Amino acid sequence: MSSETVLSVRGLTASFGQGDRKLTAVNGVSFDVRKGEVLGLVGESGSGKSVTLRALTRLLPEGAEVTGQVMWRGRDLVSLPPAALRQVRGGQISMIFQEPMTALNPVLPVRVQIEENLRAHTGLDAAGRKARSRELLDLVGIPDAARRLNEYPHQFSGGMRQRVMIAIALASDPDLLLADEPTTALDVTIQDQILNLILDLRDELGMSVVFVTHDLGVVAQICDRMAVMYAGRIAEEGPVADVLAQPHHAYTLGLLGSVPHAGGERRPLHSIEGTPPGLAAIPPGCAFNPRCGFATSECRQTLPQLVPSGPARQAACHHRDRVADETTVPIPRAAGSGGGR
Ligand SMILES: Nc1ncnc2c1ncn2[C@@H]1O[C@H](COP(=O)(O)OP(=O)(O)O)[C@@H](O)[C@H]1O
Ligand code: SF4
Ligand SMILES: [Mg+2]
Repeated sequence: MSSETVLSVRGLTASFGQGDRKLTAVNGVSFDVRKGEVLGLVGESGSGKSVTLRALTRLLPEGAEVTGQVMWRGRDLVSLPPAALRQVRGGQISMIFQEPMTALNPVLPVRVQIEENLRAHTGLDAAGRKARSRELLDLVGIPDAARRLNEYPHQFSGGMRQRVMIAIALASDPDLLLADEPTTALDVTIQDQILNLILDLRDELGMSVVFVTHDLGVVAQICDRMAVMYAGRIAEEGPVADVLAQPHHAYTLGLLGSVPHAGGERRPLHSIEGTPPGLAAIPPGCAFNPRCGFATSECRQTLPQLVPSGPARQAACHHRDRVADETTVPIPRAAGSGGGR
């Protein structure tokens, strides 16, 4: 990984609805992504991970309002005209989603879908596109690529469809891959293969990745840095090994308490008491305060700002010193992971 920053996000905010009904799903999120780095975006369901990822390239439903700054190669994607944004999206920046069936066109063979992307984002001629499509299926580990190119999405298993999605996403040789829980629907063996594939591609192509997941084991397995989200804001951010070894935010500590450890059974992150707040009822002060064992009156009144909390780390917690003193927790790994890396 180099220290060159490729994506710089500042004060990214995304809201739905208008006036009194306006709900803010992502609120002032800032982070950088470096070249060749895998950044994990983690948090419980509803914390704003997907909206953040989609807001980066303005892939949100009509009516959503996005403000802030997303600097990419000297241009701000938040204010980039739609035609220029389309060139960036799917070209320099690609996305893969959790459920490949909804992103693939069921009535077109996968060859056509890969070639469409090649036509839009490369200068290859028809023969070049055909050869490259085959290469891409090889690259993502789909056996018998020449034959399978002519098949339709329903003819592929879940894991193979996810690979097809990755092949489409990679068709343009993206510099940045935005991946939204791309392995959540898959069994752990396939998950492991796909995570390793993404890492191999990062190594081979120098691609950067923002990887959304609710699974801290996956973060430990593939990410260099992580940002923890809660109620639409970043709670803490830093190198994965450091954050997992010693959280600086009580929410992260809570998440770690609910991680399946090596050999443990896979389970969702539900062991923090209570549930995350709905967007219409985010508590004042620190949004985590009703669920936090460290909370004081300051937490109930004053929003904690994300401030430096250690080497290359930031946290938004009034009592980060107390949290940091709390524990040294074992680093989790992906459930069922063979631990290949
Ligand atoms: N199109 C939308 N309209 C209104 N609210 C939305 C929309 N999309 C997402 N939200 C809300 O934004 C919040 C964050 O959602 P999301 O980013 O999908 O969470 P995560 O990916 O972390 O599970 C949730 O409360 C969700 O209900
Ligand atoms: S700011 Fe207060 S309520 Fe929020 S996580 Fe830190 S200690 Fe808990
Ligand atoms: Mg999501």
